[in-house]
Amino acid sequence: MTLIPARLLNGVSTLAIVCTQWGDTGKGKFVDFFAEWADIIARGTGGANAGHTIVIGGKTYVFHLVPSGILHDSAGKINVIGNGVAFDPRILIEELAILTQEGMSFNNLSIAHNARLVMPQHILMDRLRESSRDGSRIGTTGRGIGPAYVDHYARVGLTVNDMLNVDSLRRKLERNLAEKRKLLAHLDPLLIQQIMGHPHLGSGAFYHPSKFLDDDALIEQYRVYGQTLRLLIKDTDQMLRDAIGKKRVLLEGAQGILLSIDYGTYPFVTASDCSVQGLARGAGIRERHVDRTFGIVKAFYMTRVGEGPFPTEIGGDESARWCNDPLTTKDIEAKLFPNASVNSDDPFVQGIGIRRAGYEYGATTRRPRRTGWLDLPLLRYSLRYSGHDAILTKLDVLDQCEMIRICTSYRYDGPRYHIGEQQLDPGTTLRVAIPHTEVMRYCIPRYQIFSGWCRNTSDIKTFGELPTQLRELILFVAREAELNIVLLSVGPDREQIIAMETN
Ligand code: GDP
Ligand code: IMO
Ligand code: MG
Repeated sequence: MTLIPARLLNGVSTLAIVCTQWGDTGKGKFVDFFAEWADIIARGTGGANAGHTIVIGGKTYVFHLVPSGILHDSAGKINVIGNGVAFDPRILIEELAILTQEGMSFNNLSIAHNARLVMPQHILMDRLRESSRDGSRIGTTGRGIGPAYVDHYARVGLTVNDMLNVDSLRRKLERNLAEKRKLLAHLDPLLIQQIMGHPHLGSGAFYHPSKFLDDDALIEQYRVYGQTLRLLIKDTDQMLRDAIGKKRVLLEGAQGILLSIDYGTYPFVTASDCSVQGLARGAGIRERHVDRTFGIVKAFYMTRVGEGPFPTEIGGDESARWCNDPLTTKDIEAKLFPNASVNSDDPFVQGIGIRRAGYEYGATTRRPRRTGWLDLPLLRYSLRYSGHDAILTKLDVLDQCEMIRICTSYRYDGPRYHIGEQQLDPGTTLRVAIPHTEVMRYCIPRYQIFSGWCRNTSDIKTFGELPTQLRELILFVAREAELNIVLLSVGPDREQIIAMETN
């Protein structure tokens, strides 16, 4: 079993793991890894839009709401779903049933009583917005995340605790639905009915022909959820605050900094703050309580799911269109491009080759993830919100790639644009990305090209044994982005981790 190098956690009582990109960098794998060290593992952001994968001895687990420390439950580790999470009880109950089937326990799982509740009306609103053809699609996961947070800020949201008190559940729900119905009255009733028939919406069980949403059916379902989960619902904010400095706390980030509502490539982002600040707050503690943060960097390529700018996308707009087409699936890709490889000449096909080599198909939605080269301007930007301690993952994916590109800066090629005092003109060089869509869409990557190592790395256990080209590339990225790289990952398995010798 790969051991956690003790020097990484010297003097650390609270550790955070966040993603520095657009998600899916391997947070689940590393939260599971560091859960060995922790006493408490807490989620603080996002909801079932997340898909966190853990592979142990060839067996794969994917979690959406359950923290990725859950496989350590039998060792007495406490897993917490914090107040900042958009909590969908249906999905948690499904996940718990799977854990039970697999013979895994969840005796020490707690859910914040004040976490935001996701309900069918949120999933409906999410899917209605995504179905519009006015160009406002974000490519969400359709899990109701945005609308649930909107309700929270609009002060009409419900919390997990409301499931335990039917009277207040009814009162709050009526108020919440009254607003929704005003909006729904202007939309296509057939579309509403169709969406309400989706399995995530109880396959029509909550549909009401004149009111759109059936209050009684919703109240009854959420009352039952409350009964089922009652013993897990706690004051986790207090629990976490009591633990600070006394116990080892591991915070599990969801999504990635470039998807953060506050710091990401807005508006193509999720609805919570995926930075360390957001994560700490959503777990009920302060950012200053976090002693160390490891930012996960997928290298030497990166991925994005959904719409939004992606300057280094391999295959450009053609790739974006292809991946965002709901008809594109892994099987269709395999059939149409059987020979796609990491070395294909056509960039669009090469993107598919990298997707296949990295198995880049959504853990939540199964959508193909758009692939692009590692983008240092974006990385330099997101490190502002994660700090400079980093873990590089998926290094093995490009093992057979003969030529690797790394984007070291952008050339801005759009019309004059002002950002505060700064003025961008055509030809301006950007070493640090400016995540405004109006800027990103005109950023042309400048690449440095490296030859690959063309050797399998997935069994390698030490930095020194890695091929020279790969070591040089790792050090190049560390230098260019001022990264303090602490660990490397060369495969999905818990065992496929390499410690950097000096950090
Ligand atoms: P998360 O959302 O950040 O937890 O990441 P996901 O689980 O959505 O996606 C990461 C995918 O990469 C999963 O399928 C992991 O099993 C896999 N993975 C993680 N680290 C590595 C690695 O170093 N190499 C390879 N080949 N796969 C990895
Ligand atoms: P993990 O934790 C990758 C993306 C969606 C969409 C945007 C908004 O597994 O890294 P939302 O449903 O949140 O309103 O969608 O955010 N997105 C993710 N992309 N990994 C995730 O989570 C994501 N969660 C949301 O694809 O572009
Ligand atoms: Mg994921």
